[in-house]
Amino acid sequence: MTPAPFPAARMRRLRRTRALREMVQEQGLSARDLIWPVFIRDGAGVEEPIPSLPGVARLSLDRMLQAAEEAHDLGIPAICLFPYTDQSLRTEDCAEAWNPENLTNRAIRLLKRELPDLMVMTDIALDPYNANGHDGLVVNGEIVNDETVAALVRMGLAQAEAGADILGPSDMMDGRIGALRMALEAEGHSQVAILSYAAKFASGFYGPFRDAVGASGRLVGDKATYQINPANAQEALACIARDLAEGADMIMVKPGMPYLDICRAAKDRFQRPTFAYQVSGEYAMLMAAAQNGWLDGEKVMLESLMGFKRAGCDGVLSYFAPRVARALRG
Ligand code: PBG
Repeated sequence: MTPAPFPAARMRRLRRTRALREMVQEQGLSARDLIWPVFIRDGAGVEEPIPSLPGVARLSLDRMLQAAEEAHDLGIPAICLFPYTDQSLRTEDCAEAWNPENLTNRAIRLLKRELPDLMVMTDIALDPYNANGHDGLVVNGEIVNDETVAALVRMGLAQAEAGADILGPSDMMDGRIGALRMALEAEGHSQVAILSYAAKFASGFYGPFRDAVGASGRLVGDKATYQINPANAQEALACIARDLAEGADMIMVKPGMPYLDICRAAKDRFQRPTFAYQVSGEYAMLMAAAQNGWLDGEKVMLESLMGFKRAGCDGVLSYFAPRVARALRG
């Protein structure tokens, strides 16, 4: 609908007062829209700051539980766990990934026992357990697909067994969603949801995350043979269609801000629950600018998240989650 010509239409009429602006506001942001990614590590009483992610720390499980309680009280529906695995447990075969007693699986059990209403999401990829930092098994320098999918299924089943509500395969191997869905059905976990990292790009914005999980120094080469070329939107939409067809309940676009076109296209085309991951590098750059006094941190935090809603996302994974929820409470 084209507005009437000036002066019949004056767009500023509805911007005149706060009440008018709020009356015609198109999008809303709420704590319900947030999934909070949390880094965990072994130990007790530990909060280990991550220098490239100001304000984010690796938490021992007792501290994680406190943080999760706070998030839950703020109305955040879900947290997503990322383990910092002891360096001695990182091997070529990645066997720690499906150890029922690994850090993530212990964290899931603790959270589900203490905070059953908080949804627990996990990451499925081998990088926190891999001697070489890759998401998949490496054989003769190649990231092998089908063997990796089998390993990922074992990893996901162990997480489901521990009580995870939502599994997040972030590895970008082909066929993993279907394999995981069938295994979950076969093993009595038909209610466990899959939020597929369906459109995950080979991005430079993951740098601080790799510091956080201790994979930075290990990664040999890059992830370009499995993550999507940042130039490719059609390929990203094909990946999303494929993952939905294989049984993904929800899909994700990652990173977020440089890929809002993909979010919008995915929502319009598939009309399924759509999430974006505001990744570590996006968080780090906003925080760095705010710490230098170059940006108003609170303002750009809320504005960046509203952008995801406007682009069609139902929710966002963001390291800002508790701060956003607090800000929205006023
Ligand atoms: C692991 C994984 C990554 C992220 C989430 N899961 C890193 C990667 O693919 O290298 C990145 C999240 C972030 O940067 O915040 N497969």
